[in-house]
Amino acid sequence: MTSYPDTSITLAPAPPGGAGPAPSGGESPAAAAGGVHVWLREVSLGYPTGEGFTSVLECVDLHLFTGECLAVVGASGCGKSTLLHALAGLLEPVSGQVSVTPTPDGRAAYMFQNDLLLPWKNVLANASFAAESALRGGRRWSLRKGRREALEAARERALSLLCEFGLEDSLHLYPHQLSGGMRQRVALARTLALGRGLILLDEPFGSLDAITRSDLREWMARVMETHPATWVLVTHDVDEAVQLADRVVVLGGRPARILGSVDVTPARRYRDPRDDHLTGGGLRRAAAAVHTLLERGRTR
Ligand SMILES: Nc1ncnc2c1ncn2[C@@H]1O[C@H](COP(=O)(O)OP(=O)(O)OP(=O)(O)O)[C@@H](O)[C@H]1O
Ligand SMILES: [Mg+2]
Repeated sequence: MTSYPDTSITLAPAPPGGAGPAPSGGESPAAAAGGVHVWLREVSLGYPTGEGFTSVLECVDLHLFTGECLAVVGASGCGKSTLLHALAGLLEPVSGQVSVTPTPDGRAAYMFQNDLLLPWKNVLANASFAAESALRGGRRWSLRKGRREALEAARERALSLLCEFGLEDSLHLYPHQLSGGMRQRVALARTLALGRGLILLDEPFGSLDAITRSDLREWMARVMETHPATWVLVTHDVDEAVQLADRVVVLGGRPARILGSVDVTPARRYRDPRDDHLTGGGLRRAAAAVHTLLERGRTR
């Protein structure tokens, strides 16, 4: 696993099929077998500005396997959210190619950096809102019978997620009546209710205090287990990244590139169950490797 444009750090040999980037040009065996969900090839991203254009990310080569959780870390402003915009299809690359294997339900479910709950809707209505809107396709009254049933199913799914997330007694509360942790759980229920195979989470616990974050992290690990999907998690918290993800990529520089990647799966797989979280040596080493890459990004 050494074909990123810059340094890569691997703690153990990549699992069969490779967890790192596929060789450019030609499909990897896993891709040919349909195992790759997302491809980014030589992708550059940026935004038009008043004077011209701001280049944010350059030459990003990345692939994600179906069912994998990838964490993306990097300094503030380096382009983590920009990368998610491209994966969600909200931002066209300046050059290169972004390819997401389509699922029947659409491309991605995106939990934005801000929870974006609608203040005038209660918890249940907020959680079912995105799935309902996707089904309505903007047409409020012209629902055919099949769609009406799908709408009911979406509401049921949102309700069941809220119950699963411990919010069954809060269905009729409004966002201003919720704690930060509850808001994040509602936002995640809304994201999962879309039923998509690719889930993009932008700093899902960013606004929470350290203790709440740490509690939610364990809860989040269980959610990821019970809702199989391809997950991309943007976070500033390296411990969170190595605890939740299979692989961590580090962005850095200006414009940013992938500085390297740390494969966490072997550390987790061989973790002594008696070890508590990061006291497991493998995860601690994975976190140290991510910090090393982040430090490299700072000196660029
Ligand atoms: N719509 C936009 N128009 C112009 N520039 C933008 C736009 N959105 C983001 N940028 C710029 O792109 C760069 C990357 O922003 P982005 O939000 O992707 O960073 P980030 O890594 O997610 O930061 P943070 O960790 O603070 O959330 C920043 O310099 C930002 O100013
Ligand atoms: Mg961001």
